[in-house]
Amino acid sequence: MNYIGSKHSLLPFIEQVWREVRDNDEQTACDMFAGTGAVGRLFKRLGLRVIASDIQKYAFALNKAYLEINQPPRFTRLRNAYNFAIAANASNAESPVEQVLELLNGLEGAPGFISENYSPAGNRSYYSTENAEKADAIRQAIRDWRERKLISEPEQFYLLASLLEGIDQVANTASVYGAFLKKFKTSALKPLKLKPLELSNQVKGCKVHNRDANALIREIECDVLYLDPPYNHRQYGANYHVLETIAAYDTPKLSGVTGMRDYPRSRYCQAKEAAEAMEDLIVQARAKHILLSYNDEGVLNLEEINRILSLRGEPKTFQQKYSRFKADNGREYKRDATIEFVHYVRVRR
Ligand SMILES: C[S@@+](CC[C@H](N)C(=O)[O-])C[C@H]1O[C@@H](n2cnc3c(N)ncnc32)[C@H](O)[C@@H]1O
Repeated sequence: MNYIGSKHSLLPFIEQVWREVRDNDEQTACDMFAGTGAVGRLFKRLGLRVIASDIQKYAFALNKAYLEINQPPRFTRLRNAYNFAIAANASNAESPVEQVLELLNGLEGAPGFISENYSPAGNRSYYSTENAEKADAIRQAIRDWRERKLISEPEQFYLLASLLEGIDQVANTASVYGAFLKKFKTSALKPLKLKPLELSNQVKGCKVHNRDANALIREIECDVLYLDPPYNHRQYGANYHVLETIAAYDTPKLSGVTGMRDYPRSRYCQAKEAAEAMEDLIVQARAKHILLSYNDEGVLNLEEINRILSLRGEPKTFQQKYSRFKADNGREYKRDATIEFVHYVRVRR
């Protein structure tokens, strides 16, 4: 998923730092600001049992799927119940996952909250009418199957993660959901299509939470704590509000032209509160290693980061030059070089 602050393209750098500092007997990692789950998945691939958390529900759903599931689900109950439908509609599909995704992809669009509010019918062109109605039909099927116990909780999150990734691909936005484009761009007119997830290797016991980092830190212990908090004033809840509603599939009161729902405000986005929140997190951490991604454009400056990390040991900073692409009015893309930092501290015993 195209996500602000995603560490997807920085994974080789993060892995390199981790290999340099680890002792190689570590078993557990915690990704406290998990977002798309890219870093938690890296630690899982490296064989660590991962605890992950994020305050947003779409991030929770993605991480539940990618971290807690090791193998593509079998959807046994659903396939038994829908034997006829699957046989009739999905004759060319092979695996159980492909069969179920084909069934969902083949659903007729339905009315619902997404199409009523985030498509031309609601005067907001986040999605084409067809894609919004299809998303409603799929989201309702996932919800109904779960209510009727035809799918397990992991199967529910697998399908939801696939829907979130699929619908994000056809969003009619420049990058985030802070605004929609007036005219539909070509990618937004492509049909919504759910695809199988790329699951990583087998690590049993990964656990995902939908909790505030400062609350959860008091309850967990791990060998390596990875922190990637927001570093500027842009709240994720505002930038991804449409995905949040699709994940929750509730009926929030929406306001304004953009149809914003109320969202949790992160203390890490607010200059006045970020230092206090970060200090509390670091002081409370029960971990052997702390890795913190935080660059030099953040609400906390690097001296402040250093001061806070020094409370637990001798901080060290790793850096890498990184070229990111920035959308400019959704038309041009500008290259913009920044330095990415990973701050590290080995926690004093
Ligand atoms: C920079 S992004 C993380 C990106 C992630 N590492 C990735 O690669 O996709 C920061 C994340 O922190 C989450 N967040 C913000 N405040 C939080 C808090 N107090 N507790 C937990 N998560 C929080 C946001 O929802 C967002 O997903």
